[in-house]
Amino acid sequence: MTPSDVKATLSFSDGSPSMDLPIYKGSVGPDVIDIRKLYGQTGKFTYDPGFLSTASCNSTITYIDGDKGELLYRGYPIEQLAVNCDYLETCYLLLNGQLPNADQKAEFENRVMHHTMVNEQMQFFLRGFRRDAHPMAVMTGLVGAMSAFYHDSTDINNPEHREIAAIRLIAKMPTLVAMAYKYTIGQPYIYPKNDLSYAGNFMRMMFATPCEDYKPNDVLVRAMDRIFTLHADHEQNASTSTVRLCGSSGTNPFAAIAAGVACLWGPAHGGANEACLNMLNDIQQMGGVAKIGEFIKQVKDKSSNVKLMGFGHRVYKNYDPRAKLMRETCHEVLGELGLHNDPLFKLAMELEKIALEDEYFVARKLYPNVDFYSGIVQRAIGIPVPLFTAIFALARTVGWIAQLNEMIADPEYKIGRPRQLFVGATPRDVKPIAER
Ligand code: ACO
Repeated sequence: MTPSDVKATLSFSDGSPSMDLPIYKGSVGPDVIDIRKLYGQTGKFTYDPGFLSTASCNSTITYIDGDKGELLYRGYPIEQLAVNCDYLETCYLLLNGQLPNADQKAEFENRVMHHTMVNEQMQFFLRGFRRDAHPMAVMTGLVGAMSAFYHDSTDINNPEHREIAAIRLIAKMPTLVAMAYKYTIGQPYIYPKNDLSYAGNFMRMMFATPCEDYKPNDVLVRAMDRIFTLHADHEQNASTSTVRLCGSSGTNPFAAIAAGVACLWGPAHGGANEACLNMLNDIQQMGGVAKIGEFIKQVKDKSSNVKLMGFGHRVYKNYDPRAKLMRETCHEVLGELGLHNDPLFKLAMELEKIALEDEYFVARKLYPNVDFYSGIVQRAIGIPVPLFTAIFALARTVGWIAQLNEMIADPEYKIGRPRQLFVGATPRDVKPIAER
């Protein structure tokens, strides 16, 4: 970290001695004030629920400028990566810091695509779930269970274990997501086919049956690959911070990634694309486009607790650059499938138009986020709505791993242990039960 010449001084109105705090400069983005010695020197903690002003680590992986609407993976703008690179090249970049050359790309692809099968025993583990279990409940279980199957890659402090765990997780996530889907609909699992592309193989495992093969459609495979690329990493969001915190105890990589999957499930995070499609279905059932005005009224009424799902973002207070790219893909896919007149898609486009012009959304800088469009694209491809978040988890796995590995390799890394402001009861005596 590069120290700044400027220092921050913390002073107290009660005359307690003031304290100088070092400042570090990022390569871009806000500087940080180093408060690590604050408790030792003043006996005070800082208070920042939701981490609104707190950097939990230093990182070289992903940079977001929410005001500019900028997203960089290892310095490369997402707009360039989405157009010039495929998902596995992006994975290589996130893990290694550099884009691969042709040989490196071929070798990495070959490695990943030769780890796509899962231990056959996984099927029996999966069979313990109810058929109607939510795919994210199943994925949390399956990813966590990988630590029971791959004992030679569970030592988080061993770089070789971390490396093979990374390849296994990236390679096997599509297989597990497809298995979870096939299990729900009662179809046989389709084994991976390693000569297909990463996204093409996933779509075949989802949609082929033993009676009928699936012929990947280039436009749809490209759309799926783009969904993966746009969701590959997003700096220190809730699930990534969960993975780091979980991994900081020294647990194995599979357990740490399973914690990320669990966190991602929430509707304020990865569950938003599912929540968004459910919202569109609800409006459709209320009466469709004609009912948008009534729905928007509810959204603006704070007492209703209704949110326009797929809109707004904690960090982007300008257009989410991923949403722009996903919007493009959305129109490409709808065109390819001749779905521009589908009532649900028409409803989504109308909602987008109204929200972009409405003063409530404009004033709060609430733009459609990537999940608004990725849900529409996935539905058009034929992915069932409850599987959306599992696909997000598949795509984000590489980001979680890159962040976890970066943390373990950081000499300053410590077990994460937030502090608290205690406002509960002060010491008191336990009375015998008859006197309470
Ligand atoms: N619909 C209606 N109003 C909204 C929405 C929304 N989707 N999002 C924010 N607002 C309003 C808030 O009520 C608040 O209004 P106020 O100033 O009058 O009180 C204002 O906009 C600011 O919102 P905050 O809640 O402070 O924004 P925050 O950064 O905490 O929340 C969040 C961000 C959680 C993403 C929120 O916008 C939301 O719930 N969106 C819907 C869910 C969603 O799409 N999540 C996906 C995020 S992207 C991802 O995980 C890949």
